[in-house]
Amino acid sequence: MLIMYNSSMITKSLRDIELLKENSLKELNEIKSLDALDAWRLQYLGRSGSLTQLLRSVSELPVEQRKTVGSAANAVKVALEDQLHMHREAIEFDSLAKDGQDFVDISLPGRNGLLGRYHPSTLVIREISAIFANMGFQIIDGPEVEWDRYNFEMLNIPQDHPARDMFDTFWLDINRQDDGAFTTLLRTHTSPMQARVMESNDPPVRVIIPGKCYRYEATDATHESQFHQIEGLAVDKGITFANLKHTLFEFARQMFGADTKVRFRCDYFPFVEPGVDMSIEWKGKWLEILGAGMVHPNVLRAVGYDPSIYSGFAFGMGPERIAMLKYGINDIRHFLQNDIRFLRQF
Ligand code: DAH
Repeated sequence: MLIMYNSSMITKSLRDIELLKENSLKELNEIKSLDALDAWRLQYLGRSGSLTQLLRSVSELPVEQRKTVGSAANAVKVALEDQLHMHREAIEFDSLAKDGQDFVDISLPGRNGLLGRYHPSTLVIREISAIFANMGFQIIDGPEVEWDRYNFEMLNIPQDHPARDMFDTFWLDINRQDDGAFTTLLRTHTSPMQARVMESNDPPVRVIIPGKCYRYEATDATHESQFHQIEGLAVDKGITFANLKHTLFEFARQMFGADTKVRFRCDYFPFVEPGVDMSIEWKGKWLEILGAGMVHPNVLRAVGYDPSIYSGFAFGMGPERIAMLKYGINDIRHFLQNDIRFLRQF
C-alpha cells in the first residue's frame, strides 16, 4: 500500500514538473520584448517563481522521492535557463536588425571584395620566362641556400679570386670547415644553377632559371640586398655567339617592342669567355639590362662536359631592373616595402 501511495505521489510531482515546463516554454515562445522576457524569468525562475518554489518543496517530500523529483525539477530549470538565454539573444538580434533598416540605403551599389594581384616582380618574371619558354627553354628553379662550390668554385671563381669582390656575400654559419672557413651562403646570383643543371643532365640543355638572390649590400635606390635574377643557359654541339645574339635580340624585341635597338659591349664575368653586357635603347638612352657570354671551357670541364665537343651561351638579368624600366619605377626599395599604394598599380 505504502509503495503504491508513494509512486502515485511521484507520478503527480513529475507530471506537475512536466506541465510547468510545457506551459512556460509555450509562453516564452510568444514573448517579443525584453521587458516581457524579464517578467517571464521572474515568474518561473525568480526567487518566488513557480519553478523555484517547486524545487524548494522537494525537501518536504519523503526521502525516497527526493532524488527522482529533485533531479527532474533541476533538469527543467537548466532547460528553461537555456531557452531564456537563446530567446534573449534572438530578441536582441531582431531589434538590431530593425534599427539597421532605418539607415540602410538599399539603392547603394554593393561593395566589391578586395582582389589580390600579382607583384610587379612576379609579372615581369612570368613575362620574361614565357618569351624564352616559347623559344624552347625549360623553366626550372633551384636552392636559395647554396654551396660555395656552385656559387663560385664551379663557375671559375676559385677561393681568393678577385672576382669574388663582385659579390658581397651573406655567409651562413652552418657547415663550417674545420679551419672555420664558410662553405654555405645565400646565393649571390642564379648562375650556380648552370653548374647544377649541367652536372646532372647530359647535353643538350636549354634552361631558364628565375629565382631570388641575396647580397650583403647597403641599400639605395638601385641596390637591394634581396632581388631576383633570371638565368639562361643553352649548351649543345656547335652553339656559337651568333645563337646568343639572335636569342637575346629576339627576347628584347618581344619584351620591349619590335623596333627596340640593342647594343652589346665587352664585359667580364669569370664564367664566360667572351663576356658581354647588353643594353637596349630606352627613351633615348642606352640602358644595360643583362650580362651574357659563351660558357667558359673551365665551367664545362667542371661539370664533366668536353669543351672540344660542346659549347654554349649563358645570360643573367635582373627582373626588378627591367620592371623599373618598363613601369618607370625610380627606387628598387619599393619592391619589398609592401606598400599597398605601390602594389596596387600593377
Ligand atoms: N651572374 C651575373 C651577375 O650576377 C650575371 C651574369 C652574367 C650571368 C653573365 C650570366 C652571364 O649567365 O653569362 O652579375
